[in-house]
Amino acid sequence: MSFDAVMDALGSDEITAHIETQNVNSAVRLDYNDHGTQHIGIVRDRALELLELLRDEVEFGVYDHELGFGYEEARVVVACAATLHDVGHLVHREKHTNHSLILADDLLDDVLGVYDTRERVALKSEALHAIYCHHSGNDPLTPEAGVVRVADALDMTQGRSRLPYNKGERSIDTVSSQAIEDVTVHDGEDEFGVPVLVEIGMTNSAGVYQIDSLLKKKLHGSGLEDYVRIVAVNEGNDDIVGRLEL
Ligand SMILES: [Fe+2]
Ligand SMILES: [Fe+2]
Repeated sequence: MSFDAVMDALGSDEITAHIETQNVNSAVRLDYNDHGTQHIGIVRDRALELLELLRDEVEFGVYDHELGFGYEEARVVVACAATLHDVGHLVHREKHTNHSLILADDLLDDVLGVYDTRERVALKSEALHAIYCHHSGNDPLTPEAGVVRVADALDMTQGRSRLPYNKGERSIDTVSSQAIEDVTVHDGEDEFGVPVLVEIGMTNSAGVYQIDSLLKKKLHGSGLEDYVRIVAVNEGNDDIVGRLEL
């Protein structure tokens, strides 16, 4: 299966070294949150989960190439983009989206080596598009790109900000992230009539910032707004926000 071959290639020493190295600028020099192996693993798992829930609900971007691509190639695009979306941190956090494109361009030629030239270029274009659109401002034109962008925002639990928090940072970013206990993704058809339900458990109301500001901002413009419902429940003692639905 081509997807398995691509996943193997994404686990190469070369790509692993890039992902470990990209965290130096982010986590060591800028005291920013983790953008290394842990973040990439979470984003990739989430993105593939979201893709599966959307499988029968959307027309994937890979279909537009008329090369006989199906769901497997949509998975390939999402796995590639999720793995390499933040590799540009290796250059600098600023404008890292653009740096990621330059680095991924080369790496993807090897990763997609099982495909013929026309297929490889098409899949690479889809992956680069998703990488370019993973931050707000560059809006996705495909569900695959939307999935990567939303999955990036779903890495928001306590562990995400542990590094800056332990170093003493007490900004709204770290404090609100500390309040997010768990994030799970489910089929939302029965409860809300949408394919994706994101459930978020908070230990206090500060978590609302992560959801209302960061996640909502990323969902907006992703192209998946009509397919995703977000429900956050405050399981802590303060009753400022008990339940939040977006
Ligand atoms: Fe990023
Ligand atoms: Fe990211």
